[in-house]
Amino acid sequence: MYKLPDRSSGTSFDTIGILTSGGDAPGMNAAIRALVRAALNQKIKVYGIQRGFAGLIGGDMRRMSSASVSNIIQRGGTLLKSNRCEAFKTVEGRHQAAEALRKKGIQALICIGGDGTLTGAHLLARESGMTVIGLPCTIDNDIYGSDDSIGFDTAVNTAIDAIDRIRDTALSHERLFLVEVMGRKSGFIATQVGIACGAEMILIPEYPRALDSISHTLASNRKAGRGSSGIIVVAEGTEPGLTERLAGYLRQHGEEPRICILGHIQRGGSPTGHDRVLASCMGATAINYLQAGYTDVMVATLGRELIPAPLGDITARRKHDPRLSELVMLLHK
Ligand code: F6P
Repeated sequence: MYKLPDRSSGTSFDTIGILTSGGDAPGMNAAIRALVRAALNQKIKVYGIQRGFAGLIGGDMRRMSSASVSNIIQRGGTLLKSNRCEAFKTVEGRHQAAEALRKKGIQALICIGGDGTLTGAHLLARESGMTVIGLPCTIDNDIYGSDDSIGFDTAVNTAIDAIDRIRDTALSHERLFLVEVMGRKSGFIATQVGIACGAEMILIPEYPRALDSISHTLASNRKAGRGSSGIIVVAEGTEPGLTERLAGYLRQHGEEPRICILGHIQRGGSPTGHDRVLASCMGATAINYLQAGYTDVMVATLGRELIPAPLGDITARRKHDPRLSELVMLLHK
């Protein structure tokens, strides 16, 4: 269980808005539920903003009740819908959004999403003076300042399950499989999945490798009698088109690899217990932060603790865990 900060009642809010934006992630619904229930408990009215920042600019908001979030904790996707909004990337778009909030009497906004969402949330707070709190929620787990993000654990487990199945065919046919997992600019999913599946190799943006070096390692493994089947986990963000190019290169060097791109299968499905609990704790904590007077922060994890981390740091810095790259190197055959 995450250690929650003490409840403080420094600032009082009458009405708040919540939205989900960017790529959906399993656990978004659990976060919405926790936010709504924790806010209502404090006699705060809640508006659910539809379709992320696009719905905010368009003023598409509906009052939420405790019953409106019943039976959603176990569901993937997001009840509030989501999208990637180009208009919100402009000062004018954010100005319109702030006006829409004021018109409805909404005094604080809670944004659930990944780095794009939280960056937008930060700009809105800075430019309009609106109270804004973020919840890190992306399968990529690439948000600077938080060890964990809602959805990551589920995506990792979905990919592990898929690769365990692929391994059966790899072994039966003595085949090499290149399995591409998500991770726009980072290798966090690939690393966890690769370690958990005992992959022969893990290719991530943080540790680039040339095609000939990969091929050479595979050939040496063969010579050492380490079998002809195997799994190479490739993070999609390692290099555009790497999976196909690597397969082509290996074919020219005597391998017969198969490709499996897991894609959006990793974003869907019922959240794991870990993600449901994380989302519930983060949602309740966001309401505590509001009342404690915080703004322009997200509810971040530092080990097993929840802490307020500045949203401004997300754009300025890039999350990197050198221990992961070291482990990848150590486990390569
Ligand atoms: O949200 C994270 C993510 O799933 C990335 O891993 C991936 O690169 C991207 O979103 C895909 O986005 P879209 O669904 O908009 O194509």
